[in-house]
Amino acid sequence: MLDTFKKISLLFAVLPALASAAMEPRINYMINCQGCHLADGTGKAGSVPSMKGELHKFLAVPGGREFLVQVPGSANAPLNDAELAELLNWMLESLSTDKREGSTSKSFLPYTELEVKKLRSKVLVDVMKTREALVRQFAKTP
Ligand code: HEC
Repeated sequence: MLDTFKKISLLFAVLPALASAAMEPRINYMINCQGCHLADGTGKAGSVPSMKGELHKFLAVPGGREFLVQVPGSANAPLNDAELAELLNWMLESLSTDKREGSTSKSFLPYTELEVKKLRSKVLVDVMKTREALVRQFAKTP
């Protein structure tokens, strides 16, 4: 009897911690990014490009992985490097899963805190030009 009680109280002690760990990137997205990028990542035609089904394409072209961290929306976010890494990984999985056959949502190498820290320290000079050059390469990747 006491044993069951102990198990149940342990469950209640652990559950909120698990839930908040899983929710955090989604909440950071809602607070910091959703205003422009919208809940589903579709953005605003003409001003904010859609990330839905698009974001993972950056990872497939040279310089794209760096760009996703260095773009002002990411680099200037009021989040620490670990939080930004987690947020980008969440965005890639939730907003832009590679839907091609045979691929899974884990088909990318997740960002780490250290990687984000390194990339974030370099300021992207010409955002639009860099972005256009990357997007032009999308068409060339199978
Ligand atoms: C004020 C509007 C705005 C907010 C807020 C914003 N972004 Fe963006 N984001 C943009 C625009 C516009 C672009 C296109 C590149 C550029 O001009 O910076 C973009 C591009 C991006 C890209 C590259 C994808 C692409 O197709 O270019 C990523 C990744 C990104 N944002 C992440 C974030 C994250 C993460 C947040 C929140 C922490 C965020 N953004 C908040 C406007 C915003």
